[in-house]
Amino acid sequence: MAEHFHRRVLEHRAALFAVLTTIGISIGGLVEILPMYSAELGPQALEGVTPYTPLELAGRDIYVSEGCYNCHSQMIRPFRAETMRYGTWSRAGEYAYDRPFQLGSRRIGPDLARVGGKYPDAWHYEHMRDPRTTSSESIMPVYDWLLDKQVDPDDVQASVDAMRTLGVPYPEDLDVPAELASQSAEIVESLAGAGIQSAPDTEMIALIAYLQKLGVQGREAVKEGK
Ligand code: HEC
Repeated sequence: MAEHFHRRVLEHRAALFAVLTTIGISIGGLVEILPMYSAELGPQALEGVTPYTPLELAGRDIYVSEGCYNCHSQMIRPFRAETMRYGTWSRAGEYAYDRPFQLGSRRIGPDLARVGGKYPDAWHYEHMRDPRTTSSESIMPVYDWLLDKQVDPDDVQASVDAMRTLGVPYPEDLDVPAELASQSAEIVESLAGAGIQSAPDTEMIALIAYLQKLGVQGREAVKEGK
């Protein structure tokens, strides 16, 4: 009988049994470990998703240092209530260049995964200067120092270098100060169009650049159901 065979031939021979178990467990382990050497680690970038520009990366560092993630998540779960409010659910490939990711676990404020393009630059400016001006009962804190604090291009260069070390494909000849200047000039101009005078090298401009990028890229791929 099968049970007798198992007991007699396998369990009663400790050495043989140990060898066979080791082989069995090794096969199980290799099946899990080997693919990690061939596949690229981390999610592949979704079609259309590119690394953060230097200004957006600077804004992202400010987002982290100001602790915005304590009140805002950046992940839309695949539930009807969420997709109706925030848009289609988040795909892994949208986070390919998010290191560390800002998924967040608290939602005192709304999810920001797809906030890019939802409001004009001027709205973000006013909202962060004083959230009560745009959302009268908001409990979000005032961040008016962002208007004075300046972004140091050397810090941004260091962030870009760090990301490059982690495998983010920034071109070797990326001119960080020039990129910062040109993208912040665009935002300053759009703010000027709304009657707001602003300084290009402030943290406010960098944070606006970051927020306006969230969930914008990869939208086409997401629409096509990828
Ligand atoms: C104490 C919690 C809290 C913190 C910290 C906080 N927020 Fe908020 N945030 C809120 C709340 C509540 C709202 C919703 C009311 C409003 O619009 O102000 C909000 C709304 C927003 C919105 C508009 C979202 C939408 O879809 O309408 C943006 C953008 C935003 N916050 C960005 C930030 C950024 C950037 C930071 C960090 C500099 C930050 N928040 C820090 C609570 C917070």
